[in-house]
Amino acid sequence: MLEKVELLMYNYIKDVDSYAIALYNHIPKGKRLRAKLVLKISGDSIESQKLAAIIELIHAASLLHDDVIDEAKTRRGTPSINATYDSKTAVMLGDILYSKAYLELNNFSPFIAKSISDAVTKLSVGEMLDVEFSKEIQLDEAKYFDMIYKKTAVLIEATAATAASLANKDSQKFALYGKNLGLAFQIIDDVLDITADEKTLGKPALADFKEGKTTLPYIYLFESLNSDDKKKLLTLYKKELTDDERIWLKGKMQESGAVIKSIEVAVKLGKEALQAIAEYKNEALEKVIKDMIEREF
Ligand code: IPE
Ligand code: IPE
Ligand code: MG
Ligand code: MG
Ligand code: MG
Repeated sequence: MLEKVELLMYNYIKDVDSYAIALYNHIPKGKRLRAKLVLKISGDSIESQKLAAIIELIHAASLLHDDVIDEAKTRRGTPSINATYDSKTAVMLGDILYSKAYLELNNFSPFIAKSISDAVTKLSVGEMLDVEFSKEIQLDEAKYFDMIYKKTAVLIEATAATAASLANKDSQKFALYGKNLGLAFQIIDDVLDITADEKTLGKPALADFKEGKTTLPYIYLFESLNSDDKKKLLTLYKKELTDDERIWLKGKMQESGAVIKSIEVAVKLGKEALQAIAEYKNEALEKVIKDMIEREF
């Protein structure tokens, strides 16, 4: 059923403009987590496929802009649009994807249209907070959670809630499932930045700290280090690391338990997600959580 979603996405952009669709064809497909979520919650009706396509276009737009913001040169295993063309092209294509998605959202109920549009506003605020927090080291865990809720979890929360409303399921319970899934998802993304390599990830590895982002594993690492190691860690902030520094950092992340502790937080959130929708006994949605925690990219 994902093929139908792909075709809808393609046709939505083809309707817009011939150059836009030529550029769109250069965006590789991602994991399609959000589309899968919609289909698993609301089935494979045409309405459900359309909602999935709209949400994946929005997600793709957010990544086009995110790679400009983060100055990332790779995405989904290939050079990012900003790297292949330029930032202007990535911003404009992102705008086309966003606005076409909003246009198509108008065909849905006000609850669905409002939930998704509001999520994108919050996502943009989340991206702004992420940039704000990357100006200097940010060790406040509550601020980190507020930021990842907005930049990542809000759209997944709205995805689950709107899909539930399409299927006449309890959208509040699915919102909670989506929120916890989304928080855990970003924590795992932040862990993988440290533990995985660029080839597996399809995007830069060990890039967050260099970009100024003090993600959850860094917050836990800092708390656990002695004062000499704290000083050393601070010297690596926003720096292009040497091989020795990369080895030191990855070693400390493991031996301090910062990585494990972060994964445990994600696992706990995953459990809370499943508790929220326990009455539906949906094995596919249990698998979404398991796969998300155990994923390698
Ligand atoms: C990447 O999202 C951005 C984050 C929210 C961490 P995904 O990991 O879902 O990206 P794709 O769509 O599979 O490439
Ligand atoms: C998530 O943040 C991006 C969005 C929610 C748009 P990241 O900057 O961590 O995402 P990646 O790691 O580049 O995929
Ligand atoms: Mg990024
Ligand atoms: Mg970013
Ligand atoms: Mg990341």
